[in-house]
Amino acid sequence: MAEGAFGSPVTVALTGASGAQYGLRLIEALVAANREVWVMISKAAHLVISTETEAKLPAQPERLAEALTERCGARPGQIRCFAREDWMAPVASGSGAPSAMVICPCSTGTLSAVATGASNNLIERAADVALKERRQLILVPREAPLSAIHLEHMLSLTRLGAVILPAAPGFYHQPQTVEDLVDFIVARILNQLGIEHRLMPRWGE
Ligand SMILES: Cc1cc2nc3c(=O)[nH]c(=O)nc-3n(C[C@H](O)[C@H](O)[C@H](O)COP(=O)(O)O)c2cc1C
Repeated sequence: MAEGAFGSPVTVALTGASGAQYGLRLIEALVAANREVWVMISKAAHLVISTETEAKLPAQPERLAEALTERCGARPGQIRCFAREDWMAPVASGSGAPSAMVICPCSTGTLSAVATGASNNLIERAADVALKERRQLILVPREAPLSAIHLEHMLSLTRLGAVILPAAPGFYHQPQTVEDLVDFIVARILNQLGIEHRLMPRWGE
């Protein structure tokens, strides 16, 4: 397939909740599904990535895109990355933002900022755009236990049309590896996005 001939872009933001592997695997799965992936990684997420995985990801957007392209076996131009305050990025406006955005993993800090419309960085702004434009927004929070603040924000976001998809894998598929648990969540995100995958069978298959 010619360069640039990708399916519609999906925005993926990794924030500083535990579970960096979910976000990295999601990017891989979207690349495999031939989608263009627009990536944002918060400062705290970089710290979590280096704590939880072997990945060495630079912060600078062009270098980050190169590193992710190599890691995910993406084609040139399939992965684009944006900086924390790149207000000129397409995701910052309803006229340029993709039809779907996933925040995975989603920290309670970013959850709260999105629920209140803070828009203090590009991830928060892109989520705010997704909400105002009534586009698909999926948040994958990980925290335990949850406070009333977290629960109230999750309820407000659900009422606004966002999907709260907690990073809480099931065990009924008898996972053998950590990757199986990660794929359980990534499969659910792909189901929400309507993207075909073979990460795990659907219920009843
Ligand atoms: C190793 C590590 C693990 C963390 N795990 C969580 C977590 O599971 N959930 C969460 O909400 N915050 C977690 N945090 C705290 C967030 O990273 C912190 O609140 C940060 O300000 C979030 O910023 P961001 O939303 O801009 O990424 C963790 C931080 C570190 C360094």
